[in-house]
Amino acid sequence: MIPVVDIARQDKSIRPEIEAAIARVLDRSRFILNAEVEAFENAFAAYCGVSYALGVGSGTDALQVALLACGIGPGDEVITVSHTSPATIAAIELTGAGAVPVDIDPRRFTMDPHRIAAACTARTRALLPVHLYGQPADLEPILEVAGRRGLPVIEDCSQAHGARYREKSVGAWGRIATFSFYPTKNLGAYGDAGAVVTGDPQLAERARQIRQYGWDASRVSRRKGLNSRLDEIQAAILGVKLRRLDAWNAERRRLADLYNRRLSGKDLTIPYAAPDSVHVYHTYVVRHPRRDALRAHLAARGIGSAIHFPLPVHLHPGFSNLAGFSESLPETEAAAREVLTLPLFPGMREDELQQVVDAVNSF
Ligand SMILES: Cc1ncc(COP(=O)(O)O)c(C=O)c1O
Repeated sequence: MIPVVDIARQDKSIRPEIEAAIARVLDRSRFILNAEVEAFENAFAAYCGVSYALGVGSGTDALQVALLACGIGPGDEVITVSHTSPATIAAIELTGAGAVPVDIDPRRFTMDPHRIAAACTARTRALLPVHLYGQPADLEPILEVAGRRGLPVIEDCSQAHGARYREKSVGAWGRIATFSFYPTKNLGAYGDAGAVVTGDPQLAERARQIRQYGWDASRVSRRKGLNSRLDEIQAAILGVKLRRLDAWNAERRRLADLYNRRLSGKDLTIPYAAPDSVHVYHTYVVRHPRRDALRAHLAARGIGSAIHFPLPVHLHPGFSNLAGFSESLPETEAAAREVLTLPLFPGMREDELQQVVDAVNSF
């Protein structure tokens, strides 16, 4: 069976370094918000090209902390997309605000900037685009609408570590941005972890307080906060892996390029890579009008695949409050019916990739 992802294969060569990093934490016996978290935060902020990074417990928490730091709460609305992880919308709703999904650009699979104006109301407080599958959303027109209306842009970069839009990394464009380090991400921990990044010192300080009981540096609660701290062991692991991220992303791009050149089929759509961006292929996602039959055809040939995401968030029973958006999201619903994620991960061999290509091309 060729798996969709294989973290063990990617991480095999760094096992001794990971073990040494974990041992360092055990020897120091400081497990929360200490030297490893601080070192990783500094390295990750520099990597993204921003001044501040704060380690938190997960990508969902990172979104919640970022939204709360922007002052978003009950009665507010945040414009986002429904072709994303339910986590994006859950985080908005956890603040007490309402999520307003707009449709996607079907080529990029990300927020369609042309849909934003019509979705804005007097309650709109932020725009939250998601850089999906490793491809940046079309940020310039999104930032333009946001600028005209005085709204902050909060970037969900959970699937796009190291991706670039024009001259800057994702995460460096919005007022604040969030990352998940879920194990399968391009930069993944060995458990749950996430980060908030920003160039704004006041927002950074608010986010720092919100991640830990609202505390300031003197442990006085200045606001209501959560407990969502990145732990030292995960930070030490992430520090080792961050040094490989560019090489791993380059390998993902090389594999994606081979797929792009070798896959064929009249109904098959290969991923669009926008010329203004560096796509980092968190997942390699094709479209096919008979997606489920193609998936079964691959499974019968020992090839794993996945669907990201089989249901738009507004069609999940837990988000039935959003069901009314269905009619305005035809591209989102079409994507959910047609997308298929093929195997792609650092360490994947070319003969394995060719087996996937042969199986797809024989469909
Ligand atoms: C786009 C997006 N946003 C948010 C999240 C939530 O991250 P986490 O699982 O670390 O909470 C994910 C994770 O899958 C994601 O893909």
